[in-house]
Amino acid sequence: MVMERLSIGNLTAENCIIQGGMGVGISMSGLASAVANQGGIGVIATVGLGLLSNERQKGYRRGSIESLKEEIRKARRSTRGILGVNIMGALTNYADLVKTSIAEKIDVIFTGAGLPLELPGYLNGSSGTKLVPIVSSVRAAKIIFSKWLRNYNYIPDAVVVEGPKAGGHLGFKADQIHKQEFQLEDLLPDVRQLVDEYEANYEKKIPVIAAGGIYTGRDLLRFHKLGADGIQMGTRFVTTYECDASESFKNAYVNAEKKDIVIIKSPVGMPGRAINNTFIEQTSEGKQIPTRCMHHCLKSCNYKTTPYCIADALVNAQKGNLEGGFAFAGSNAYKNTHIVSVEQVFSALEEEYQDALNTSQYQTELNENTE
Ligand SMILES: Cc1cc2nc3c(=O)[nH]c(=O)nc-3n(C[C@H](O)[C@H](O)[C@H](O)COP(=O)(O)O)c2cc1C
Repeated sequence: MVMERLSIGNLTAENCIIQGGMGVGISMSGLASAVANQGGIGVIATVGLGLLSNERQKGYRRGSIESLKEEIRKARRSTRGILGVNIMGALTNYADLVKTSIAEKIDVIFTGAGLPLELPGYLNGSSGTKLVPIVSSVRAAKIIFSKWLRNYNYIPDAVVVEGPKAGGHLGFKADQIHKQEFQLEDLLPDVRQLVDEYEANYEKKIPVIAAGGIYTGRDLLRFHKLGADGIQMGTRFVTTYECDASESFKNAYVNAEKKDIVIIKSPVGMPGRAINNTFIEQTSEGKQIPTRCMHHCLKSCNYKTTPYCIADALVNAQKGNLEGGFAFAGSNAYKNTHIVSVEQVFSALEEEYQDALNTSQYQTELNENTE
C-alpha cells in the first residue's frame, strides 16, 4: 500500500484510513478487525452493544460492559492491527464504556456527540490508550483543547473533524447542514490552524482527521491537500461482507437512490442523516410508536415525549427489520451499489488515490510548463 501512513503517538497505521464507529451494531468486531487487517484503524461502536449480544439478560448497564469486553477481545483475536472504540458523549453509561475500554487496553477512544471534557481523567498512569475527540466546529475543538490542558495537562492525541455530509447524528443545527460555511472544506482549515498552534507550542504531533462525505481516493487526496493527516469513513464500509449489519440493512444502501438520503430529527436531539423509508415517513408525520423505556440509554431522551425509541429502531434495522426502524447513512450512501470485501474497498481507494495523484501531478507539471 502506498497511501499515506497515519501516526497517532506511538501507533502507526499503514493506511491513513479510520473506519468510523457505527452504532447500533453496524461496526463491531467483524468490520473493525477487517479494517485493521488492511492497515487502517478499525473502530467498534459501543452504543447499543448491550442490546445486541447474549449479555443483554444481565441488564443494559452490565450487558453493555460485558459485550464491549467480548467485542474488543474478539477483534483482538482476529487482528494484530490498530483498534479503537467509539463512545458517544450522549450515553448515560459513558463512564462504564470508557473505563472498560481502557481496562481492555484499547488503542484509541474516539468520542463525539457532546464535549468530552472529563475524558483524560479516566486514564491511569500506565494506560497507553489514545484519546481522540470528534468535533464539528473549531469552537468545540478550542474548548476541549483548553479544558484538557488546564484540568489534566493533556492534549488530544488527534482530532476528528466531522462535516455535515456524514451519516448518523450530525453535530450541526438543521439549518446549518447545507450552508457553505459549515461544510468540511471550510471547517477543516480552521481546525488545522488551531491544531498547528498547539503543535508548535507543546511540541506534540496532533493528526487532524477529516470525516463526513469522503468516499473516493480522489476525495482523500483533496482533503489531504486541505490539511488532513487522515480520513474517517463510515458509509463506504457498510456494504462490505465483513460489516456487522444484516443483509437487509446493507441492501437498504444498495437499493437507495440519491433522493432517498434524508435528514431526520432524532430523539437524541440532533439532526441525523438516514435512508428514507416508511418508518421515517410515519414518525416524521407525527405517528407515535408507544414505548416503555427499558434502557435509559441517552442523557437527552425523554421517553414520555419521544415519538419512538431510537435504540429499538436501530436494533430492529441492524437485525434486518426495516419496517420497525431505519438505516443511518452518509450523503454518499447511494454510491454503494454492490456488497464487496473490505480488502476490495481498500484496493479501490488505493487505485482512485493513485489516479488522482497522477492527474494532479500532471496538472501541476502542465501548469508549470505553461507559465
Ligand atoms: C450507520 C451509521 C452509524 C453511525 N454511528 C455512529 C456512532 O455510533 N457514533 C459516532 O460518533 N458516529 C457514528 N456515525 C458516523 C461515522 O462514524 C462516520 O464518522 C461518518 O459516517 C463519516 O461520514 P461518511 O459516512 O460519509 O463516510 C455513524 C454513521 C453511520 C453511517
